[in-house]
Amino acid sequence: MTTTSPPLPTAAETLRQKLAARTARVGVVGLGYVGLPLAVELARAGFKTTGIDLDKRKVDAINRGESYIQDVPTKDVAEFHEAGRLSATTDPASVATLDTVNICVPTPLRKTKDPDLSYVVSAVEMIAAHLHPGLLVILESTTYPGTTDEVVQPILEKGGLKAGRDFFLAFSPERVDPGNEKWTTKNVPKIVGGLTPACSALAKALYGASIDTVIEVSSPKVAEMVKLLENTFRAVNIGLVNELALMCDRLGISVWEVVDAAATKPFGFMPFYPGPGLGGHCIPIDPFYLSWKVKEVGFEARFIELAGHVNGAMPHHVVDKVTDALNSHGKAVRGANVLVLGISYKRDIDDMRESPALDVMGVLQQKGAAISYHDPYVPTLLGRDWPGSVDLHSVPLTTQALERADCVVIVTDHKALDYTLILRHAKLIVDSRNAIKGAHAHVFKLGAPAT
Ligand SMILES: NC(=O)c1ccc[n+]([C@@H]2O[C@H](COP(=O)([O-])OP(=O)(O)OC[C@H]3O[C@@H](n4cnc5c(N)ncnc54)[C@H](O)[C@@H]3O)[C@@H](O)[C@H]2O)c1
Repeated sequence: MTTTSPPLPTAAETLRQKLAARTARVGVVGLGYVGLPLAVELARAGFKTTGIDLDKRKVDAINRGESYIQDVPTKDVAEFHEAGRLSATTDPASVATLDTVNICVPTPLRKTKDPDLSYVVSAVEMIAAHLHPGLLVILESTTYPGTTDEVVQPILEKGGLKAGRDFFLAFSPERVDPGNEKWTTKNVPKIVGGLTPACSALAKALYGASIDTVIEVSSPKVAEMVKLLENTFRAVNIGLVNELALMCDRLGISVWEVVDAAATKPFGFMPFYPGPGLGGHCIPIDPFYLSWKVKEVGFEARFIELAGHVNGAMPHHVVDKVTDALNSHGKAVRGANVLVLGISYKRDIDDMRESPALDVMGVLQQKGAAISYHDPYVPTLLGRDWPGSVDLHSVPLTTQALERADCVVIVTDHKALDYTLILRHAKLIVDSRNAIKGAHAHVFKLGAPAT
């Protein structure tokens, strides 16, 4: 049986044709880890793409043909900028010239763990001031179910234009994994949920031009919830394996060996690995958008809260390991030289947001340790960005630096670190990532017995 889609309203049909012909002018608001890769893919697909950001340094970099995001090659930005398909501006009025606009601004948590939608609201207000018939607006920022129709739609409709009839509105969660060379903005399937069938059809037409696979769901709320399921799934499973690591610690079993052996089961198991705690802009934050939202309907999201407690305590367990390791050499934390290796929130990237290294370093410093660090991706750590409040600079990873340290702590296992050198020259090592293979008398691993 063949089904035919209902005809699109006139304004939607006009935009659909422009998208198909690549004559639509497309825009991205917020040119960070999510927005810049998306803008580059849209330009690659042949659209004249305008990025809008409040940060003049980012705008200037793009207009010089330079990338500032590790996963986006400068050669792509330069090529599309020179071809006249990629430019950036701080001017909100440029929305008036666009046919589509994707919103990729931050969605952090307040100190109270409540959602902070202020960036989304101000970006939407900026778009509302220049809203015109036929515009397609897509929210990509991770947020709680209901944001698109309860927060974004009313702001956009204030001027009298109606979503689904005069302009079009959808939610499409960003699923980018910074540093992942296999799965990129282009080949990770894109979920779209439009307010009406026409909104979904247009969002699919935009992404279909630049992204390999587009999957439609029935509403923006479903699309919002998909993203929160994905990130909650990770947070909860990491919480589970972190708790297992603590059990293994007590029982004298290596959690690393257990997980690797369990991962040989060809069905019904997916390996997650323990570590020093969650980091980044997504996994530690997004699940709390959901737990906040369901409180409104009298529901307590117990898995999310529990995973938050377990994962939030992991930096302290790393500090406990450092204390035990120093103790085994008859040393106290106070006065010890501690060299931290890898301080970005995950391997091989430069993003420091929510990095557990900051807590590990902060607690150790508070206990009186003298902290230094080495990270090939983070040359400087400003005092305002960690609890220790002093500016630090990455020290070279030399024999002398390793020998000088009373304890070396591997927080983030960058591939570029020379683990043979570390193993040979460090007096004591606390390894929170199983970066050092095998058992060694001077290596204390998270979730494994001391040898
Ligand atoms: N980074 C990731 O790995 C990732 C992955 C999936 C989803 N997300 C989600 O995507 C969203 C964006 O995250 P990000 O990591 O790209 O953030 P980011 O901080 O790297 O970039 C956001 C950009 O938005 C700009 N901005 C803020 N308010 C603005 C406004 N009113 N007008 C114009 N520009 C504005 C900022 O200057 C910044 O350049 C968040 O909701 C995040 O949860 C991020």
